[in-house]
Amino acid sequence: MRDIIIAGNWKMNKDMEAVRAFCKDVAGAFKGKVLGRVLPILAPAYPFLAIMLRELEGSLVKVAAQDTSSHADGAFTGEFRLPCWLHGLQYCIVGHSERRAYHHESNEIIREKLLAVMDNGMKPILCIGETLEQRDGGITDQVILEQLDGCLRGVQLYSGKELIIAYEPVWAIGTGRNATGDQAQEVHRLIRKWLTDQYSKDLADSLSILYGGSVKPQNLEELLSQPDIDGGLIGGASLDSKSYLAMMDIAINHK
Ligand code: 13P
Repeated sequence: MRDIIIAGNWKMNKDMEAVRAFCKDVAGAFKGKVLGRVLPILAPAYPFLAIMLRELEGSLVKVAAQDTSSHADGAFTGEFRLPCWLHGLQYCIVGHSERRAYHHESNEIIREKLLAVMDNGMKPILCIGETLEQRDGGITDQVILEQLDGCLRGVQLYSGKELIIAYEPVWAIGTGRNATGDQAQEVHRLIRKWLTDQYSKDLADSLSILYGGSVKPQNLEELLSQPDIDGGLIGGASLDSKSYLAMMDIAINHK
């Protein structure tokens, strides 16, 4: 049985006070709650990682970084290395479309980052997805397969639990226009088939594939009811604790 993951990517939002207030709400709401196979993950901006880890210590929430440099150290002004000294940090997003678009990250760079995360004993959340132009041009499958080939070329996976993949169609991010359950399922099925062909059926069946792009409490159930959608990577709707907790409840009650 795969985990259902409700991951909040906060991007460059919230200040310290807001981070603390959110953590307090979530820690309080999760006290005594049985989460079953639902795994909550939150990815605050880099300066707040340590604060969140401290505030949520002992809770069931896992903390993720939003990015990392692929370099261990050196002359890379403004870059940061994944803080493996931050005890408890277990996940790191790589390849988000905003990094690809604004920082020109190629599949090769993303692959290096993914390997750096794994070398640190942490789990990458690899984002892939097509632009509207690519979808309208009928090349969605080709783009997805190129991203998978480029980012995972030669990457050893053993159980499928050491990586999470997030399918985030660029046209659905922050636009309020989510992919329908059927549209998302079609791509998720393609990803799982690729994993089966490249690795094994057992591995493909164990790896959680999240959908991202305008996920909110109103559309989460439809997405979760698809056979290959194992949760969401959520931006805007994860910023408000009530909305985040509502999505957690939907996932917990999902049959
Ligand atoms: P929105 O949920 O705001 O569309 O953002 C999705 C996203 O980019 C998560 O990584």
